[in-house]
Amino acid sequence: MMLPTVSVNSGAPAVSPPFWLLAELTYQCPLHCAFCYNPLNYDAVRNELTTGEWVRVMREARALGAVQLGFSGGEPLMRDDLEELVAEARRLGFYSNLITSGVGLNETRIAALKNAGLDHIQLSFQDSTRELNDFLSSTKTFDLKLKVAKLIKQYDYPMVMNCVLHRYNLPHVGKIIEMALALGAEYLELANTQYYGWAMKNRNQLMPTLEQVRDAERVVEEYRERIGDACKLLFVVPDYFEDRPKACMNGWGAVFLGVAPDGVALPCHNARDLPGLNLPNVRDVGLADIWRTSTAFNAYRGNDWMQEPCRSCDEKGRDLGGCRCQAFMLAGDAAATDPVCSKSPKRGEVDKVIRFASQRPTGLDNAHVIEQPIVFRTNANSRT
Ligand code: FES
Repeated sequence: MMLPTVSVNSGAPAVSPPFWLLAELTYQCPLHCAFCYNPLNYDAVRNELTTGEWVRVMREARALGAVQLGFSGGEPLMRDDLEELVAEARRLGFYSNLITSGVGLNETRIAALKNAGLDHIQLSFQDSTRELNDFLSSTKTFDLKLKVAKLIKQYDYPMVMNCVLHRYNLPHVGKIIEMALALGAEYLELANTQYYGWAMKNRNQLMPTLEQVRDAERVVEEYRERIGDACKLLFVVPDYFEDRPKACMNGWGAVFLGVAPDGVALPCHNARDLPGLNLPNVRDVGLADIWRTSTAFNAYRGNDWMQEPCRSCDEKGRDLGGCRCQAFMLAGDAAATDPVCSKSPKRGEVDKVIRFASQRPTGLDNAHVIEQPIVFRTNANSRT
């Protein structure tokens, strides 16, 4: 879709409108996933936007040009006004997507969401086995997810499954694809863990070996050839195993506008962890001003912020310097070249982590080899 550009105030460059709004309705979640991207201190965020405030945010985003709306969290079904928000999204003309663990999605709610005009549901599994699914989320939710998958089909939604991959479930990729086929999924997103938030805390536990990643890629390729379009398989390689970074968020302040449960506006999911951004809050500032003129959304827009080697790199138009959050976590400077890039002077940090992962035995039975046990996302751990 071609997006129009909107001119900002005089003198400032034209800024394209956001393509999608991610409404993180709540950080509350019944699951405790060890790879959750939510901030480590999420439990400190208590002051959630009200229904009326979310409606205002949606209206302002739509007026700004956003067309896709994701309801996310935490678990968005924890909000009992979700149906009301979905109905407003439909009235405003958004294409709406519910990103859910499935917990809380019973027949009454899915019927109400259908009635309200929800377009799309993405259901997450943690694995194809009950044991690992339930272990990694620290809940007994596997059977419930199977029931929800059936409900999604029954209510005539395209079945979009998501499974976050890492050291412990990469060897199950074939089984995960078989499960998706058995459930009638039209799409399966096999997204390797990216190391932010809780996943960063558990990085040594979750980091796969290169062999695991390559084997899984090969299995996915074989299935693609065998099943054709019966289920579209999306396999996202972990950044650490690439030698060029991803164009994170398709560019800072380019298409993505996130709003956290407490109204903090986010140029990327993890922007809360970056220092000095002075993130604006939708309670204080209109979304148009946030998007066009705030310091936070302009901090890494375009190319001017880049340092060497990005500044003179002929590939900068493709990867846009990579991920600011990764640069901050691994190089200590959000404006540095993403250390995933082989041209980064800090690439050694990434190689060290991969080397460590390759030197220990795989399998959950060997999780204890790492000194720090897996840290699950819980309110208690969020406070420490
Ligand atoms: Fe923040 Fe990539 S996750 S810029």
